Amino acid sequence: MNSWFVRLLVLAALLWCVTVPARAGDAQARIERHVHNGVASCATSVCHGKLKIQEKENVWLNEYRVWTSEDRHSQAYRTLGNDDSKKIAARLGLKSAKTAKICLDCHADNVPKKKRGRKFQISDGVGCEACHGGSEKWIKSHAEKTATHKKNIAAGMYPTERIDERADLCVGCHLGTKNRFATHVIMGAGHPRLSYELETFTANQPAHYTVDDDYVKRKGQPDADNAWLQGQIAAARRYLALLQSGLFEPGGMFPELAMYDCHSCHHPMDDQRWSRRRTGGAVKPGTLRLQRHHFIGTQAAAAVFASKQQQKALRDRINALLRAGQQSAAAVRKAASELDDWLAARQQQWRGKRSDTRKIRRQLLKLAAEDRAADYSSAEQVFLSVEALSYVLGDIDKQEKALDRLFKTVEDDKTYSPAKFAAVARAIKSGF
Ligand code: HEC
Ligand code: HEC
Ligand code: HEC
Ligand code: HEC
Repeated sequence: MNSWFVRLLVLAALLWCVTVPARAGDAQARIERHVHNGVASCATSVCHGKLKIQEKENVWLNEYRVWTSEDRHSQAYRTLGNDDSKKIAARLGLKSAKTAKICLDCHADNVPKKKRGRKFQISDGVGCEACHGGSEKWIKSHAEKTATHKKNIAAGMYPTERIDERADLCVGCHLGTKNRFATHVIMGAGHPRLSYELETFTANQPAHYTVDDDYVKRKGQPDADNAWLQGQIAAARRYLALLQSGLFEPGGMFPELAMYDCHSCHHPMDDQRWSRRRTGGAVKPGTLRLQRHHFIGTQAAAAVFASKQQQKALRDRINALLRAGQQSAAAVRKAASELDDWLAARQQQWRGKRSDTRKIRRQLLKLAAEDRAADYSSAEQVFLSVEALSYVLGDIDKQEKALDRLFKTVEDDKTYSPAKFAAVARAIKSGF
């Protein structure tokens, strides 16, 4: 090999490091890279523990107060001591949910012992560093006058402001990873079903920051029109990664029922829901059905960004996955990988403007109205997405009545009726 070729290789490798986005699913590794000093290290009254928002500072400095008094994440460890958790633990044969790794992994900042600083307490639950990363290398420097966001990130702070990175972080607990997952055994013991949509969950987490001029100067302008779609694709890809992980094989269970559509099994027998149109025609009545709701957002976006031929390719891949879900872990892995390739190729490419956001919202309601998004979890995603996009489009007040009607149909999964959901979607569609 001659030397210019070697130099070219080195250059290519360097460029690759700079331009290729972090691999999906490595949020947890990056969060855990450095020592976690514990919430107490952030919470003093000279730091993030002020009583009120400090108007003159870049950041609020009362983040700790917001987190302890309003944010569920501060209660996540305490939850493990409540009666529901005691029942779950007893049914699973665990000594205590408060000491079980499987529970602590999502309900606390469960970094390995050697990554815990002096003030670290597991009882803090999902603390600051569970999202912002171990502060070992930036705890001092990030408060100095010379600090910049870039330097903080280089020192190991997690880039929560970047929507793709945030998506990867939140799905790590709200869907799971190959290392931490709420299996059907855990669900069967009484754990609530996990439902998640990034935009909605970002809005529902009590804010401890404002996106104002100085925020934009430090971190850039958030891309409101693409945040929802990035969240949808990230969730879809995480689901596909889980389907290819050891959860299914080797060592896992096939079929792992928590990867299937919960309500395809859990609804009364006299409420017959299967139809060719609803299920996309891929699976027979009375057979197992993988979750389709992770792909509803992408399907709506494809109708805006992709050719008819490409839309069909997406449908075919989703249907192939549903069929594989009735065959074997190997078939699931193959179909999941092919669908993931399709999504990966579009994740960086699909970027819309305001008018596209409006079109996507219409497509979501069209899918619903045509009775093609009728599984409960799909209906839930449609509702959450249409609502989130209405905030982005700034017409949430105008749409309030219609959104209320749609919400009533998905409010309670026990009384959910696919036909009613589709009928309401048809009735309100023209107003969007
Ligand atoms: C380390 C795991 C973990 C991470 C990371 C995480 N969460 Fe959570 N989140 C939880 C747990 C556990 C709960 C439930 C807490 C409880 O009630 O005990 C929760 C609850 C919530 C709730 C309240 C849900 C409800 O039904 O009211 C919202 C909203 C939320 N998370 C948003 C987010 C967002 C947005 C992100 C990413 C920026 C995120 N979470 C990252 C574990 C996590
Ligand atoms: C993959 C991550 C994950 C695992 C593993 C997990 N949980 Fe959760 N748990 C969550 C999230 C996220 C929520 C909040 C759901 C929501 O509201 O959207 C939650 C909610 C709960 C709730 C209901 C809390 C409430 O306020 O209503 C209980 C109880 C609970 N978990 C107990 C447990 C126990 C006990 C274990 C261990 C056997 C466990 N969890 C394992 C992520 C997880
Ligand atoms: C569940 C995840 C989560 C937890 C827990 C969490 N944060 Fe955040 N935090 C975020 C997200 C998301 C943002 C907004 C995106 C951004 O600017 O990075 C943010 C933003 C911030 C900002 C930046 C505000 C700005 O204007 O730049 C500060 C400071 C902050 N958080 C401090 C804390 C502190 C202190 C705690 C603990 C008391 C905490 N956070 C807990 C997710 C979290
Ligand atoms: C293939 C069918 C199937 C799917 C899909 C499925 N379950 Fe189940 N579920 C079962 C069976 C079978 C039981 C055991 C019922 C029993 O013991 O009486 C069960 C039990 C449960 C229980 C305990 C109820 C009881 O009576 O003990 C809960 C809660 C539960 N599942 C939640 C879920 C959630 C959440 C999902 C989706 C993530 C899901 N299930 C997906 C078949 C399924």
